[in-house]
Amino acid sequence: MKENVLKELNRQLNTELYSAYLYLSMAAYLETQNLSGFSNWMKVQFEEEQAHAMKLFQYIIDRGAEVKLISIETPQTEWNGIIDVFEHVLRHEQSITNSINDIFDLALKEKDHATVNTLQWFVKEQVEEEAGVSDILKSLMMIDGKGTGLFLLDREMKQRQFQPLI
Ligand code: FEO
Repeated sequence: MKENVLKELNRQLNTELYSAYLYLSMAAYLETQNLSGFSNWMKVQFEEEQAHAMKLFQYIIDRGAEVKLISIETPQTEWNGIIDVFEHVLRHEQSITNSINDIFDLALKEKDHATVNTLQWFVKEQVEEEAGVSDILKSLMMIDGKGTGLFLLDREMKQRQFQPLI
């Protein structure tokens, strides 16, 4: 694998671990807001991001290249309520999409077909991630992030369970 592609894949691996850490931090914050359902949703998100990181980890190994782990940035720990949290999640996922697209462009330029193929899974996943977060944000806006609506939505969020990635 070309050095520049490997460097970007290792950087993305770190970004996925940071995403996991950010969502775990959000899960902790949501517990302080008595939103245990939303906290559960974030804990599942934490698991998903770790699975994304491991997909890249295994791909790098399978290509006979070297995984290089670096320190994970400290995540934000405070937000201004549930709407602020989900606006942050959406912005974050949009930045991840841009990051994946940039590596995809690089892999195409380098004619690295195996990496293009692996990244296609991430491109599709990002469409689903952004759509899911956007739906939750719209629901939160509709109920103004409070009251009985928030209570019911929190109960719904409690149902989310981690599904192993395919
Ligand atoms: Fe791994 Fe939420 O992107």
